[in-house]
Amino acid sequence: MKTIIKSIIGRRIWDSRGRPTIEVDVELSGGRRGRGIAPSGASRGSNEAIDLRDGGSLLGGYGVQDALSNVNDLIAPALVGMNAEDQEGVDAALIELDGTPNKSRLGGNATIATSMAVLSAAAGAAGRPLWRYLAGDQSVRMPLPEIQIFGGGAHAGRRTDIQDFLIMPLGAQSFDEALFMAAEVYRAAGDLMASLGRRSGVADEGGWWPNFTSNEEALQVLARSIERAGYRHDQVAISLDIAASEFGRNGLYKPALDDCEYDTSAWIDVVLGWLKRYPIVSVEDPVAEDDPEGMRIFTEAVGDSVQVIGDDFLVTAAERVSAAAAAGQCNAVLVKPNQAGTITETQRTLRVAKELGWGTIVSARSGESEDATITHLAVGWDAGQLKVGSFARSERMAKWNEGLRIEETIGASARFAGWSALPVRSLT
Ligand code: PGA
Ligand code: ZN
Repeated sequence: MKTIIKSIIGRRIWDSRGRPTIEVDVELSGGRRGRGIAPSGASRGSNEAIDLRDGGSLLGGYGVQDALSNVNDLIAPALVGMNAEDQEGVDAALIELDGTPNKSRLGGNATIATSMAVLSAAAGAAGRPLWRYLAGDQSVRMPLPEIQIFGGGAHAGRRTDIQDFLIMPLGAQSFDEALFMAAEVYRAAGDLMASLGRRSGVADEGGWWPNFTSNEEALQVLARSIERAGYRHDQVAISLDIAASEFGRNGLYKPALDDCEYDTSAWIDVVLGWLKRYPIVSVEDPVAEDDPEGMRIFTEAVGDSVQVIGDDFLVTAAERVSAAAAAGQCNAVLVKPNQAGTITETQRTLRVAKELGWGTIVSARSGESEDATITHLAVGWDAGQLKVGSFARSERMAKWNEGLRIEETIGASARFAGWSALPVRSLT
């Protein structure tokens, strides 16, 4: 047996914001190694797996010594001797060892880095690329990318209230062409913003740092950027991550760029107004995580014309997806492995959502690394959509570029998900 876990080593490395994070190396009895690196969010849902940090004054409190000790002193002895091919068993052991509902003892950062490292070692031992190891004999599609053009919210000093202004290259025929289109729009947007005096460098995920006076101005410039790049709005459409939990609580929404406060229904009207005026096909967290009734009203209002994604609202939890579906909230889920804390729980969430006919979007975090596992998850699990931030900075490009290599490996039979990935009718 070559797939027995022989050693697990955790080390501190540094993420795309220069903050510490956890890298785990797993070595199997046959000599194969696997690696996983924990990402980290800035606009986190309150029900996510806990990102365990040391606190105190050093490194702004972001130290990971406790989580690291958990990997080396608790997790390693518990998992050594287990079979890496038994991902469910390994993840069940992590869940049991943690013993809390939100990984607060071991840290979701410790558990996800370990879980990913075991998966990657097992795929290596099978002699297959990770996406193929996950897919088995099932056919897969190359995911529709969701690419950030401007950053905002918690990723850009709250220069806009909407956190992510993204595009979806729906008219592409391949992943390669989708990235080509993204590059053209990203460049056109940068040029246009510079000419308007609205560009100030890049935000946390590589999108242009916007100096707009209103959220609406950002939408106008994004729509114009798509045209300037030479695309129609049915070829390249807009997607928004509003991340409304950042400025909404207890049914009151206070966007920083507006002078007024909104109750849930007035805020939903603002967003519905944007949907009328701009070619938006997808909206993430339109209302706050503590506003389930708002989510139900919004989902009902857009019907099957817009993808409604729950991120903070669903936190990659299968039972939340089921409950939301039963309550008529959302029609798509953002799938972030570190929100769940293990690969098995992440996959279960995706499976439940797919069975419901929902859209599924595998997603990176705003704090990232060179780890490109999520690209393999998106292809191997046939998620249909992939969101990894913008079209700049190597922690983002590592993931887009990995998709190009996978598409090339699949060869002529590669199918691009395109429109079929969205749980919607057509462009409104
Ligand atoms: P985060 O943001 O990684 O900072 O939480 C990403 C998102 O909200 O989708
Ligand atoms: Zn989000």
